[in-house]
Amino acid sequence: MSIQAEISQLKVEKKAVILAHYYVPDEIQEIADYIGDSFYLSKVATTVDADIIVFCGVSFMGESAKILNPSKKVLMPDMSADCPMAHMVDVAKIEELKAQYDDLAVVCYINSTAAIKTYSDVCVTSANAIKIVKNMPNQHIFFIPDGNLGRYVAEQVPEKTVILNTGYCPIHNAMPNVTAAKAAHPDAEFVVHPECQKALLDEADYIGSTSGIIDYVKASPCQEFIVGTEIGVMYELKKQNPDKKFYTLTDNQVCADMKLITLEKVRDVLLNETNEVTVSDELRNAALKPLERMLELAK
Ligand code: 13P
Ligand code: SF4
Repeated sequence: MSIQAEISQLKVEKKAVILAHYYVPDEIQEIADYIGDSFYLSKVATTVDADIIVFCGVSFMGESAKILNPSKKVLMPDMSADCPMAHMVDVAKIEELKAQYDDLAVVCYINSTAAIKTYSDVCVTSANAIKIVKNMPNQHIFFIPDGNLGRYVAEQVPEKTVILNTGYCPIHNAMPNVTAAKAAHPDAEFVVHPECQKALLDEADYIGSTSGIIDYVKASPCQEFIVGTEIGVMYELKKQNPDKKFYTLTDNQVCADMKLITLEKVRDVLLNETNEVTVSDELRNAALKPLERMLELAK
């Protein structure tokens, strides 16, 4: 039996579903029941009808799924798959700013640990950050952990005072400028994720989350695209647009943590029900509030 057939059989036996982010390897996206950006996956986690969720992504994603749906068993194919940016917040800085501004709202990108979420008023993803910051009643916003996404949001919501943090995604933050790619592909449109630096965003035809990029490319009459995000998104882009051409900025648009997910690991956690995500009640209760507020405000 193929490993894909083994996984299908185990899914039925155990009433399990597989959720996958667009950055995991192609063969994982192929077998997933739900594939999407961080916002879509967190919504799915609240409604999915299953006993087990296998979350093919990094730890903050599995943790958020468990917090949003505690009665389900959430399994991670690789417990060491983590997002470095999720830890890039200094709690002392949050306390300092809270003391300084009475009306401060801490707006926390979902790419953060549950412990960091507990210090936040609301979570956001790249798909809803502008809308949510715009609609916060507070004038002062501390946007954590991503400084690049925070700066982009601040530019779109100039009426707010957005204080930036210094966290960053090592993959998006390191992307080179688009000059060489544009020279090589002069007819291509440039689509980019807001975790990239400002110089890159200033050159873009479209800026958005992974799902936003996929929707934009599908609707665009253009036939060629330079893609400024993690390479895994190419799987869905090529699937939806077999006649369009896609180029990267560099060979290094790879999130090593997302690539830790393999078919063997998915099969093994399903078979043995290992690598279960656990969150204490205390941590869950505190981290749930900003996640639920995000789901409410993003409606
Ligand atoms: P989105 O899929 O929400 O755009 O997030 C990108 C990302 O870096 C996830 O870790
Ligand atoms: Fe984190 Fe960047 Fe990987 Fe997304 S691509 S999981 S932000 S390291």
